[in-house]
Amino acid sequence: MTQDELKAAVGQAALHYVVPGEIVGVGTGSTVNKFIDALASMKDRIKGAVSSSNASTERLRAIGVPVFDATEVGELSVYIDGADEIDPRGYMVKGGGAALTREKIVAALSRRFVCIADESKVVPVLGKFPLPVEVIPMAARRIAALFEAKGGQAQVRLKDGVPLVTDNGQHILDVRGLQIADPLAFESEVNQWPGVVTVGVFAHQKASVCLLGTLSGVKTIEY
Ligand code: A5P
Repeated sequence: MTQDELKAAVGQAALHYVVPGEIVGVGTGSTVNKFIDALASMKDRIKGAVSSSNASTERLRAIGVPVFDATEVGELSVYIDGADEIDPRGYMVKGGGAALTREKIVAALSRRFVCIADESKVVPVLGKFPLPVEVIPMAARRIAALFEAKGGQAQVRLKDGVPLVTDNGQHILDVRGLQIADPLAFESEVNQWPGVVTVGVFAHQKASVCLLGTLSGVKTIEY
């Protein structure tokens, strides 16, 4: 199976967690795109979706799923999203698609986080994938220095040669060289730094379940 087929398999398997008649939380990325494709088959049995990015909103609307603003809904039963890394405890690094802030907000609104990923995303310790951090641009330099003191090297993410601007109008730092052994403490600490909008460690909003695409089929891991 190719990586694309593994993503399609977990996207399809995630339908099992969508509650008929309710609003589903939908993340961002190439694996979630497969989930949205699969969701087309049950679009008439759900009330709609809350989306974590403009890109997913467009895709959901294109298949006829009503998209609600997060402020219009109460608690969601489930949020389905991918990850850039996931460790054996269900802690994740996310934000490769620059949507981490809205992803964390929708995850926090949801009772369960179902992570859909292919097995290349599983790591023993978070930090190999450059850690995305959404920052207010005027703070970027100081935040980069704070990461340097932790052994990380931060770079502003570029798009077409200029800093990428997120859906929230901010910038992204990608931090290489970290080993995040205590994700809960790390997330809490970095969240305190002035100018950090969101750090891409999802420990306080970790996965409840991971549907992992492997060559021997989709494995379900509960945390
Ligand atoms: C988007 O900002 C990310 O958090 C994605 O969930 C993550 O990058 C996984 O994306 P893929 O499914 O494309 O690997």
